[in-house]
Amino acid sequence: MTATEGPKQPDISYHPDAKKFRARTARRLAEDPSLPQQPLPANFPDRVDGPIVWEGKDWTDESQWVYNLSQTQLNEIDGALAHFNSLDKPMGFISRETFPLPTLSAELWKLADALYNGRGFFVLREIPIDKYSRKDLAIVYAGLSSHVGSGRGRQDATNAVLAHIKDLRTSHKGVLGNAAYTTDKQVFHTDIGDLIALLSIQQSASGGVSRLASSGFIYNEIAKTRPDLIHVLKDNWPLDRFGGDPPYTERPVLYNEDGHIVIQYSRRHFTGYGEQIRSTNIPPISEAQAEALDMLHFLAEKHSLGLNFQKGDIQYINSMGLLHARDAFVDDPEHTRHLVRLWLRNDELAWKTPKPLEKTWALLYSVAANAQRFPLEPEIRKTASGATK
Ligand SMILES: [Fe+2]
Repeated sequence: MTATEGPKQPDISYHPDAKKFRARTARRLAEDPSLPQQPLPANFPDRVDGPIVWEGKDWTDESQWVYNLSQTQLNEIDGALAHFNSLDKPMGFISRETFPLPTLSAELWKLADALYNGRGFFVLREIPIDKYSRKDLAIVYAGLSSHVGSGRGRQDATNAVLAHIKDLRTSHKGVLGNAAYTTDKQVFHTDIGDLIALLSIQQSASGGVSRLASSGFIYNEIAKTRPDLIHVLKDNWPLDRFGGDPPYTERPVLYNEDGHIVIQYSRRHFTGYGEQIRSTNIPPISEAQAEALDMLHFLAEKHSLGLNFQKGDIQYINSMGLLHARDAFVDDPEHTRHLVRLWLRNDELAWKTPKPLEKTWALLYSVAANAQRFPLEPEIRKTASGATK
């Protein structure tokens, strides 16, 4: 390297490569064999425990996380839908009060508690998708979800609070910077915000398994074997804003906040995805960050739980405490995978938001009821700068 050359982006791409990961680890340990002997950073424990610290093989049967709606509860949902429609209010006003569920509400609160204080996920089964118009389905979905978390996050700069996750490569032009809008595998990541809800309105012909992994479990594995990477993860990382202003932001990937291990990141901000390549006018990630990024992915994959998504399921996830991923899938004309997403927060049960995330969270959950948009058909999310997110 000459004196004029700055640091280069490591050889790493969106799709993790196990061979490159192993080679990078071997190279770094050869350069500095003392790395695994480093003490953990102050304020980071040797290990964490609790119901959200689990691995895939701890779960044996989906009855452990699937909540089946009874006919009485489905009737309550129809009653709440009729009530909301009788109010003649914009959909942004959907709430626990305007979508009343006399007995189901308490059950949903218990499930919300399990998101923050329990295992961190559950599936509600099954919403009779075909019986509702697209608009009524959106009301039912947002109404039920308001009993899990009443805060609704905006999905883009146009105040949409509902997002459609579907292969949009043929129907929508423009740069697709996110595997979510393709049939491609989505590697382990978190969304922004506290809770993610995903309603399945149609399944793919094959593939598309949804995978979850516990951030606390992954933390324990890294803390035990490579404490030096805990330092790397809790320091600042340069996130590409893909043409935004400023062009990049910095924040940690790992937090220990108020007794909770939080991992919050999306790999594409460090590697780019597809046509949206990582910007060259911003600082590259380091070799240590590249190793840590792969370490997170491969540990999450190894210790993940695969969930079988059925039409009419709503999957709720605590995105502060769990990572998620999705296998590649194949659609056919009768089976076109289509999920509808909400970002939620339950202010009464929520964990403390780590300080570096506070501004993003405040902006996310700031959309006034009368400004919320509920797109009933797929669209590509836009940032204020026009880039896809
Ligand atoms: Fe996601």
